[in-house]
Amino acid sequence: QKIQIAVIVGSLRRDSFNQKLATALARLAPPEFELKRLEIGDLPLYNQDDDANQAEPVKRLKAEIAASQGLIFVTPEYNRSMPGVLKNAIDHASRPYGQSAWAGKPAGVIGVSVGAIGTALAQQHLRNVLAYLDVPTLGQPEAFIQAKDGLFDADGGIGADSRKFVQGWMDRYVAFVGQHQG
Ligand code: FNR
Repeated sequence: QKIQIAVIVGSLRRDSFNQKLATALARLAPPEFELKRLEIGDLPLYNQDDDANQAEPVKRLKAEIAASQGLIFVTPEYNRSMPGVLKNAIDHASRPYGQSAWAGKPAGVIGVSVGAIGTALAQQHLRNVLAYLDVPTLGQPEAFIQAKDGLFDADGGIGADSRKFVQGWMDRYVAFVGQHQG
């Protein structure tokens, strides 16, 4: 039985750098880890009226999170925060009150943007939300990746300049998940 990690990507864009980063990350995980991308693009806009009758995509999302032993958030920065689609997914899976799917799942937070301080503020906002949801997050190393030529190699892996850093991040995340295994 592999250790299941749910990967939540904060961009729905077809050619998203963050989607590409999530794909590349999956290759850096050890064989006993299985990284699974969760779909968040088909979730309705969160409406508290529906808490007692959650839509099928919401139920699916919550079941996938419940079945995982860890989380990786791969997010761009939109206007110095996390994208609404990501916050929408987080809000959905936190409800109904008392039935959050998130609590206790060890999380890694990483992201890529075109900006020079790429995703630092989005990640900080996300960390605040995760702290409230009782999701422990890997503090170090921080991973603020700037999209530039060569970030990904021709094969879709992490390019030579960043590979060691991103592998180091993954290794620390894997150890962090290990610390949280009951
Ligand atoms: C952005 N972008 C951006 N970049 C950044 O570093 N800080 C920011 O605050 C913002 N704000 C922002 C708002 C909105 C609405 C958009 C659409 C974009 C640029 C962003 O980094 C760039 O579009 C990335 O390519 C988005 O990530 P994906 O979609 O490639 O994963």
